[in-house]
Amino acid sequence: MPRVVPVDPAEPDPAAIADAAGVMRRGGLVAFPTETVYGLGARGLRAEEVRKIFAAKGRPPGHPVILHVDGEAMARELAAEWSSSASRLVGALWPGPLTLVVPRAPAVPPEVSGGLDTVGIRAPDHPVALALIRAVGEPLAAPSANAHTHVSPTTAEHVVRSLGDRVDLVLDAGPTAFGIESTVLSFGHDPPRVLRPGAVSLERLRALEPRVVHERVSVEGDEARAAPGMAAKHYAPRTSVTLAARGQEGVARAIARSGLARARVAAIVVTDGARDAAAGCAPVVVLPGSPEGYARGLFAALHEVDAAGVDLVVVEEVPAEPAWWAVADRLARAARR
Ligand code: TXA
Ligand code: MG
Repeated sequence: MPRVVPVDPAEPDPAAIADAAGVMRRGGLVAFPTETVYGLGARGLRAEEVRKIFAAKGRPPGHPVILHVDGEAMARELAAEWSSSASRLVGALWPGPLTLVVPRAPAVPPEVSGGLDTVGIRAPDHPVALALIRAVGEPLAAPSANAHTHVSPTTAEHVVRSLGDRVDLVLDAGPTAFGIESTVLSFGHDPPRVLRPGAVSLERLRALEPRVVHERVSVEGDEARAAPGMAAKHYAPRTSVTLAARGQEGVARAIARSGLARARVAAIVVTDGARDAAAGCAPVVVLPGSPEGYARGLFAALHEVDAAGVDLVVVEEVPAEPAWWAVADRLARAARR
């Protein structure tokens, strides 16, 4: 078991932050909360420490990790180019759940970028994360603190369950606020392109930078290399996932089609009809009908389903509306096997 240190999310105890910073300065791995999900952090400009993150997650070396900074000044030192458009976006949205992919400065080791000539950077909107970055005094490399291809952690308990002893210390500040990862926007493409839908909406981005594009990209071959976040097997729970059409009928049909006893099937639903249709499934998780509320609860629901050890989880589809983009993206990936 790693050391788990409780910390107040709003006013982190300086002693706890100093403890975690000390672990990092000795080359250790620290899991810390952000406003999106928990990250698995190491000092981001030291290749051998970044490599430990990949080893702990079982993540293949071709996958870039995000550098977490305390603001735009630290970010600019990591970028070979920083456009006025990038400044405008981070001026409005940092600290916050927007990751910018920009040309990489020589100071950033290639390990961080999975060998690409770009680097992903964000300033997390969480007092604990910001305090840790400032205490270490350097950008922190941190992917989500889960084993590769598993569901991202929204609590310290999820981190411990997924990584165990492969992390040295976990700062536990309770459940994260957004529950879904940052939006990844690439300035390595012209016009700037969304590589991963996330906690910042497309509408919000376009209000600040109207040129932003978000087209579905293929997830195989060359595209997968240019946009590694699109890899198909991200966000998959261990349990098989089937998406069901919204409402009572859709969910009833999906359960019947599985041919499984209800005790072997879990359900994640929103509508009353779907909840009724899932009676007898275990567990039945009811998530809020707003995209924000749903996102906050989704990963915890998937972790709960995995812990229950059922054979299948039937997930009621979410509305096909732009506000649901990040949630719909995670569900589609989880269902793809
Ligand atoms: O909310 C978040 O972004 C969380 C918290 C911990 O900050 N982090 C996170 O990291 O989700 P990770 O490594 O699980 O996902 C990072 C995403 C991946 O899809 C990765 O491919 C993409 O960002 N990414 C990072 N750097 C990139 C780069 N240079 N080029 C293309 N994509 C990049
Ligand atoms: Mg991840």
